[in-house]
Amino acid sequence: MYEGDIASVLITEQQINDKVVELAKQVDEDYQGGRGGDLLLVGVLKGAVMFMTDFARALPQPAQLEFMAVSSYGSSTSSSGVVRILKDLDRDIAGRNVVIVEDIIDSGLTLSWLLKNLASRNPASLEVCTLLRKPDAVQVDVPVRYVGFDIPNEFVVGYGLDYAERYRDLPYIGTLDPKVYTSGA
Ligand code: XMP
Ligand code: MG
Repeated sequence: MYEGDIASVLITEQQINDKVVELAKQVDEDYQGGRGGDLLLVGVLKGAVMFMTDFARALPQPAQLEFMAVSSYGSSTSSSGVVRILKDLDRDIAGRNVVIVEDIIDSGLTLSWLLKNLASRNPASLEVCTLLRKPDAVQVDVPVRYVGFDIPNEFVVGYGLDYAERYRDLPYIGTLDPKVYTSGA
């Protein structure tokens, strides 16, 4: 699939699977007892869709699934922190234990906005679980409790992540061959 477009495989399908199970176990342990039950996963479309569905199935306890779609103003490669809701949650999250499920945190601006927005709806608790995190995100003061992989500052695709809506369906995460950016596709 996508023969020749991928420069290198950064994270294999097996590594993703193992990490998803590990993260799901961690979340399960943290949401026992007082914080147990009533878990609501909020997936951020479209990038987090693969991670969200695999994560929910790996999670030993029941959880409800909600999705949000947001769009950040600014160029396609850097976000401005000004976010527009394209699709809001279908339900009230007041009193719920919410975990935001993200594909990748880069500048952290999108997530920072999302956290403020969801916190204002009065959930019982609010945490973030991201599969990938880039170096810049570490500098931003966004509390991310669960991180799958810290990756280098390179543009990555696959497992939900796209370039111009392509490559989301790759089962692994890889870097793009520069010829893809320059071919004008
Ligand atoms: P910020 O910078 O606000 O943005 O943390 C996070 C969003 O930026 C997108 N993004 C990427 N998408 N490959 C992608 O396909 C990447 O390497 C990449 N880096 C950032 C993504 O939409 C994410 O939600
Ligand atoms: Mg994208």
